[in-house]
Amino acid sequence: MNIAAAATKLTVNGEAMALRSPPATRLAEALRSELGLTGTKVGCDAGDCGACTVLLDGEQICACMVPVAQAAGREVTTVEGLARDGALSDLQAAFLRHGAAQCGICTPGMLMAARDLLDRNPTPTEQQAADALGGVLCRCTGYRKIVEAVLDVAGDRTCATMEAAAGAGAAVGARIARLDGAAKLTGDDVFGADFAPPDALTLRVVRSPIPRGRFETGDLDGFRAARPGIAAVLTAADIPGSNAFGVYPVGKDQPVLADGIVRYRGEAVLAVVGNAGAVAALRDEDMPVSWYEEAPVAGVAGASAEGAAIVQAGRDDNVLARGRVFKGDIERGFADADFVAEGEWRTSFVEHAYIEPEAGWARRNGDRLEIHVSTQSPYMDRDETAMILGIGQEQVRIVPTACGGGFGGKLDLSVQPLIALAAWSLGVPVRCTYSRPESMASSTKRHPASIRARAGCTADGRLTAYEFHGDFDSGAYASWGPTVADRVPVHATGPYVIPHVKNTSCAWLTNAPPSGAFRGFGVPQSAIANEALLDDLAGQCGVDPLAFRLRNAIRRGDETSSGQVLEHSAGLADCFEALQADWNRERAEAARIDRAGGPRRRGVGVAGMWYGCGNTSMSNPSTMKLGISADGQVTLYNGAMDMGQGPNTIMPQIAADALGVPVECIANVAGDTDRTADAGKSSASRQTFVSGRATQIAGEELRAKILRLANVGPAALLEIGNGRIVLRDGDAERTLDLRAMAPDGEGDVLAADGTFDPPTEPLDANGQGVPYATYGFGAHLAVIDIDIELGTIKVRRIVAAHDVGRAINPTLLEGQIHGGVAQGLGLALMEEYIPGRTENLHDYLIPTFGDIPPIDTILIEDPEPLGPYGAKGIGEQALIPTAPAIFNAVHHATGVRLRHAPATPHRVREALLAAQEAGHA
Ligand code: FES
Ligand code: FES
Repeated sequence: MNIAAAATKLTVNGEAMALRSPPATRLAEALRSELGLTGTKVGCDAGDCGACTVLLDGEQICACMVPVAQAAGREVTTVEGLARDGALSDLQAAFLRHGAAQCGICTPGMLMAARDLLDRNPTPTEQQAADALGGVLCRCTGYRKIVEAVLDVAGDRTCATMEAAAGAGAAVGARIARLDGAAKLTGDDVFGADFAPPDALTLRVVRSPIPRGRFETGDLDGFRAARPGIAAVLTAADIPGSNAFGVYPVGKDQPVLADGIVRYRGEAVLAVVGNAGAVAALRDEDMPVSWYEEAPVAGVAGASAEGAAIVQAGRDDNVLARGRVFKGDIERGFADADFVAEGEWRTSFVEHAYIEPEAGWARRNGDRLEIHVSTQSPYMDRDETAMILGIGQEQVRIVPTACGGGFGGKLDLSVQPLIALAAWSLGVPVRCTYSRPESMASSTKRHPASIRARAGCTADGRLTAYEFHGDFDSGAYASWGPTVADRVPVHATGPYVIPHVKNTSCAWLTNAPPSGAFRGFGVPQSAIANEALLDDLAGQCGVDPLAFRLRNAIRRGDETSSGQVLEHSAGLADCFEALQADWNRERAEAARIDRAGGPRRRGVGVAGMWYGCGNTSMSNPSTMKLGISADGQVTLYNGAMDMGQGPNTIMPQIAADALGVPVECIANVAGDTDRTADAGKSSASRQTFVSGRATQIAGEELRAKILRLANVGPAALLEIGNGRIVLRDGDAERTLDLRAMAPDGEGDVLAADGTFDPPTEPLDANGQGVPYATYGFGAHLAVIDIDIELGTIKVRRIVAAHDVGRAINPTLLEGQIHGGVAQGLGLALMEEYIPGRTENLHDYLIPTFGDIPPIDTILIEDPEPLGPYGAKGIGEQALIPTAPAIFNAVHHATGVRLRHAPATPHRVREALLAAQEAGHA
């Protein structure tokens, strides 16, 4: 064949190109693989996510849905074509200024959709912007800052937010732009699927099509030999170390490759390795595997039923973990109550739906293994991979790529042990990228919960008692199930003072995908019940719901249900008070609207939250290092993984102020286990609090070392660069010659470490103790419209007040709150993962532009003395009160209590009809 004749000629970013990919190749694939334009991302390969959006003759299209042939003779513009002469375009600069990119995986698609809009309509309205970008999904930002950025570049500069980074001592608290932001806007950031060595083989996982049963493999050697492009078919027998991993030392129960038994649909069974074409040509049905299906253990009801099959052989039952918090005398607490409210609630599996599927590559270097992967937990990846391969931890190096969203789902191993095993045994680089359905079928989920709870209060609205039991479907393997079982009983009362408490939880093993960590570890589920009961009690005693919460809000000096006295930061009451004016106004407006009657009702609800920062009653350390090279380059060795939430920016901000230099002086080395110390996992809202404090300590240590060397006082001003440090202390001036000092292994001549492990105490048998060193607090107000004939709910507005201790970077904090609200809205109204049925971003709905209302954020700063400059965490907090506030707003509008999340229209309609029949609505 004449290849030149077969090439597809087109223009890409202004340059004439000839694509040699077959004409039916997806344009996204050709741009990425053939032209190396990996700024165009692939989140689904099915036209659902918009991450691959490019311009074709100036109009936005999904490049995964357009064959190369269709681009012949036409002009393609990708994100790489936006910047000119190395400078960001106005649009890119606006995204940076507004914090419109968090993880950045959706950002190229967003930019291209926005470019299309602005070229056609330079002054769009907010609605036009939302409509034009509506085909691109973002899981991080809640879309608000993206719309702000588009309107900003269109000329409405009323909402511009970035501050210039100021000089020494001014970084903490400044709205500086994300320091790693530019690469997210140009397409230069390298995510898990964006690069592998040219000689890398491709790995594809064969997964179980059944939720429970046995399997037998046939002649795998013959299968491989018959297919020239296939290098290996790996099975459990090929694993040289332990074929069992898990986040808990005593809970390593999940095989890398199943060994004859499968426990959930989507479980990894075989790993096929070969050249990309040969691997892509395989179908699961071609594989010599015989399946023997057995009846699955379905849900908590199935797992707890009399005579239930045992999910994991060797256990007595299907109980994975139990938790409890008992305080006071629960009988007395209810005897003291004048009013009691109770109920039952259910929530569903929720999928993380990060737009970047799991991806990475590995290569062997002699007796060491190097893994480049999208992850939230590099050190845990390192240690578990070493255990699986039966080699030393120091033989494994994890080099994190940019991470396109995690939310807890990239804490557990995914591709890591598979590419490690293949690269280690074959001696060649191996890459793997999960498809969207594969990602959704195999990754961890939010635990579905079945909750029973009741609460009592006195006639004057003081809470006296709270009793709670939550059953959680933990799926087939432990993952983070024990964490949910521990954390929920501590938090289940909500952030309120209650003298008598009896909270219990149970995590059950079932034949479902493992439930794991997902922003909140079970607390968002328990908060739905908790905040509904508070509303019901407020109604019974005739107290305004916001006033009822303020009356019972936990404050400094109060005791939690686990017996911990809050010594310091406890800004919950401030959060509720910050909502008061909006509450009064919105409730009055709702009353006015509802007086008019008709099917559309307005409701206004409120909910509070609290959340312990860090692991529950466990050592939780982080170590950070700051060094200065002989040239005067200051480097932060930062092991706190940034999945979009911001450690690559806020840790340098903290380091800069601690050392006493402008933040621009700080270079950031992120997450490489050969170069950074263990900062622990990016989870449990711990990095700002724990690693931030470790960073502050490192900066202060390094500063103290420099001041000692120069023999100057603590107020001395530092100027670092050109091989020296100049110190000015009043009239005195000293100079340290850095080039005269001996470098360490990183080339730094001066360095200091900081380690921080927040003080906690174990919980006793009744759950009494100090599980967390500090807590974040918050309160949300939700305004909704509900159509009582259709069962549809439209969230009109959210006001979110959060006590963050100290706002290190308000723009990034607002972005976290917006993203949390969006995920909370999804939990409340639309997100439900059903194995085998909603394994794509078409059937599994996440909020889009049109679903997210205006969000007003209010930052409360009640400083935490242990935190860096007073700061606490925010990552999980912002999600927790959204769903309960929405459900309380529905109750306000209709008098009907929603008890099953997500409250899809059919469930809402059912609840309304049931209430009508019972005469309650
Ligand atoms: S990758 Fe093309 S729409 Fe998702
Ligand atoms: S910033 Fe949009 S998906 Fe992460």
